[in-house]
Amino acid sequence: MQRIHFHEVVTRDGFQNEATFVPTDTKVVLIDALSRCGYAKIEVTSFTSAKAIPMLKDAEEVMGRIQRQPDVEYTVLVPNVRGAERALECRANEFNVVMSVSETHNLTNLRMTRAQSFASLRDVIAMAQQHVAINVSLSTSFGCPMEGVVPQDEVLRWADQFAALGVRGLTICDTTGMANPAQVARMARALKQRFPTLQLTLHFHNTRGMGLANVLTAVQEGIDRFDGSLGGLGGCPYAPGASGNICSEDAIHMLSEMGYDTGIDLPRLLDVARRMPAIVGHEVSGQLAKAGLCTDLHPAPSM
Ligand code: COA
Ligand code: ZN
Repeated sequence: MQRIHFHEVVTRDGFQNEATFVPTDTKVVLIDALSRCGYAKIEVTSFTSAKAIPMLKDAEEVMGRIQRQPDVEYTVLVPNVRGAERALECRANEFNVVMSVSETHNLTNLRMTRAQSFASLRDVIAMAQQHVAINVSLSTSFGCPMEGVVPQDEVLRWADQFAALGVRGLTICDTTGMANPAQVARMARALKQRFPTLQLTLHFHNTRGMGLANVLTAVQEGIDRFDGSLGGLGGCPYAPGASGNICSEDAIHMLSEMGYDTGIDLPRLLDVARRMPAIVGHEVSGQLAKAGLCTDLHPAPSM
């Protein structure tokens, strides 16, 4: 059975886009529950400025209080050297350093040009690489809500520059759900061919309903790592029109029904997913938590 690795990003990408602060205690309980579901990685939080992302201002406390499971990697988003210093103190297993392939989105999100971001992340990598694995997330790789088309060659050009620094992995992000399956197939082929030894992850948002189709296409092209967010929460507050990531439990259920080994205990994950509306105070878009598993049987309606 082919193995697909899932990374849960709800407490980072999911929560950063919520209006109401999720208490630290709730975050810790949620991450501890997710740690027992079979994820390969959990993106716990981000070490960004509290002014930019107030929801994640408790990053240190959350990292200090979660109970780590040995088979789960705990990764954190890092935008600059200051973030890297904070994250090193917290003993993250991986730094997920981030920049955008679109100049306009990078300026809006990180307040730096791409060249400034690259220089800053090069410093982060130099200082952290002997302590921690480095993954690079390239935002707006399939399109930018302000610039429009983002050429695939431009994505590969930035990916090349990070690969030359010896990073472990690359995450190619569809920040505002602009990717379509044909585009994903082209990108997946190019990535597999160019970076055969890197850990390659795809990060989709379901903004236009193409999320699961994109996952399926990527799997068929040999990609075996995906980010997803419980309930389908998520979105970048600095990308106009951004909305939720692909819903983890919906994507995992689809692949598991198709016979892939996701490593995830789905009934256990569903129990956690069903807590999401109460945690964030509103309905969420995930379907599986409402419908139940395909294998859940119902009594026949009385005639
Ligand atoms: N963690 C905590 N504080 C930080 C920080 C970090 N990683 N980086 C900068 N700061 C602080 C500085 O110490 C400074 O504090 P002061 O005002 O008390 O002196 C202040 O933030 C401004 O610093 P500066 O270097 O000018 O940063 P900035 O205001 O240009 O912001 C980022 C740059 C990258 C920190 C900010 O844009 C950010 O956090 N963006 C994250 C966006 C994000 O996470 N988007 C969603 C995920 S893709
Ligand atoms: Zn995202």
